[in-house]
Formats: sequence, C-alpha cells, structure tokens
Amino acid sequence: MPDRVLVDVALPREILALFSPEWEVEVWPSGTPELEALLGQIDGVFTYGHPRVDGALMDRMPRLRVISNFGVGVDHIDLAAARQRGIPVGNTPNVLDGATADMTFALLLASARNVVVGDRFARSPAFTHYDPSILLGREVHGATLGILGMGNIGRQVAQRARGFDMRVLYHNRRRDPATEARLDVTYASLPELLREADYVTLNVPLTPETRGMIGRDALRQMKPTAVLINVARGGVVDHDALVEAIEQQWIAGAALDVTEPEPLPRDHPLLGFENVIIAPHLGSATRQTRHAMAQMAVDNLRAGLKGAQLPRRIG
Ligand code: DGY
Repeated sequence: MPDRVLVDVALPREILALFSPEWEVEVWPSGTPELEALLGQIDGVFTYGHPRVDGALMDRMPRLRVISNFGVGVDHIDLAAARQRGIPVGNTPNVLDGATADMTFALLLASARNVVVGDRFARSPAFTHYDPSILLGREVHGATLGILGMGNIGRQVAQRARGFDMRVLYHNRRRDPATEARLDVTYASLPELLREADYVTLNVPLTPETRGMIGRDALRQMKPTAVLINVARGGVVDHDALVEAIEQQWIAGAALDVTEPEPLPRDHPLLGFENVIIAPHLGSATRQTRHAMAQMAVDNLRAGLKGAQLPRRIG
C-alpha cells in the first residue's frame, strides 16, 4: 500500500517535484467528515502552512509515523505529545538563518528610512516636487541594536550589524562568551537592552517563556525613538500592548514580519498606523532558502516513512 502524506495546503509544484512519486498526497479537506475519514489513513504529515498539530490530532491518525515541518519554528506542533506517541518530528534548521537575518535588516532599514511610507507617497498625486524636509528618518549606522535571542539567526543579525558600525547588545537565556568575542557583542539584561537600544530585533523561538515577552512593561522601557522588529513569531509580542505603545508614542514604530493571528483581521488597528510595517511572514522567503528548506523537509518525511533516523529531528 502506498504511503499517504497529508499536507495542510496545496503545495507549489517545485516542492511536490521533490516528493516520491510513490506517495499519495492528500490536501487537508475543508469539510470535517472528509478530514475524519482521511486521518485514519495518513502515514506522514507535512506541515507547510502551520496548522496546529496536537496530541488530539495525532490520536486521530493511528498510522502516523512522521511529522515533517517546513520551517524551523515548531511552536504549532506539540512536541511532547509526539514524543509520548513515538512520532518523530523534523524541521529545517540552519538553512534559513541567512535569509531571515537579511529580512530582519530589510525591515530595520525600511523602518528607519521610511521606505514603505515613502514608496506610497512617491506613487501618490501628493508627490509634486522634491522636498528635502520630508520623511526624515533615523540613522542606522552608529546606532545601538538590541538583539533578543542570540541563536543561529540572532548571530547572523549581529554579523550584519557590524557592517553598519552598530553597537550590539544582546539578551539570551544563556550568555554566549564565544559569540561576544567573535562578533563584538555585549550581553545585557532585558531591561538594559530595552532601555538602550535604538532598534530591538526579536529573534527568539515562540515558547511558553517567550510568549507575550514584549508586552506593556517591555514597551514602556524602550526609548520613544526606538523601533521594534519582529521576525520571530507574532505571539512574542502582545499586540494590544503594541497598539497602545504606538498610539501613546512609547516607541517610534514597529516592523512585523509575523503577527498573531496571521493574517491580522483586516480592521486590526496595527494595520492603520503609518509607522508600522507589516510583511506577510517573508523571513525565509527567498528561492534558494525555500528550496533548501523543501529538500530538508522532504528528506525528513522520507526517512520517517521508512522508519529511519530523521536527518533533522527536533522532537
Ligand atoms: C520558520 O522556519 O520558522 C519560518 O518562520 C517559516 O515557518
């Protein structure tokens, strides 16, 4: 009998081309009865659009032998439940660090230099002549960057910051003396980092400890000229608190690649602020990185279906 793989959304052709022709690929049906009928026949789950994969769902898939996540962040998968059931979980670490660090800087620069609001203005009839007094931004070179989360992505952000002559502070669960020496970064407590940074970038995974980490208290400690950049997960930031921070001008702006929920409801106040940039979760979205992620996720899926060791196992 061929192995049946459940994918949560119809996959692009380039990814399907990496799948074994022997697998039967099933796209998550919209109707509940169809889904229930299908779950009993599923051998592998390939999560692409981040559905919640919890113990209750796993229990409805008695044949399930592997969960392969297209991405490094596995906050939508209950790893403990998978472990209890002996189901290995794969993800795609390392290959996306550079692209995500690039995106962190893209958002930082766009926000500092009014790129998005400037683009809108330049296309509008209001742009009638060059005016040197408009849209004055903030310096990036020489500014202080605060990196929250000094993992693989955080380190690459720090590396880029050196090219901009930035002073770099970081906060992490554990100090990292090797990185401090190699990249000339300084460990700071969270309050110190929030107080001193001109740009705060979030590069932490979403865990029970980091959920809501940037709330009212944290935002109130930031400089009124500072910008918050989130390329991690929406849940790290309390969005109601962020709305308040923007309205009350506790901070100068924000640039979010991720939100919770994703997408935000179309009438969400964050969508209405000129000094908030919102991108549709593009952190790792380059052709090369997506291809490398796809290859890794498919290799994990293949190994799990064969009962072999996953090349990149997270749980
Ligand atoms: C990741 O790898 O976690 C990206 O955000 C895509 O899920």
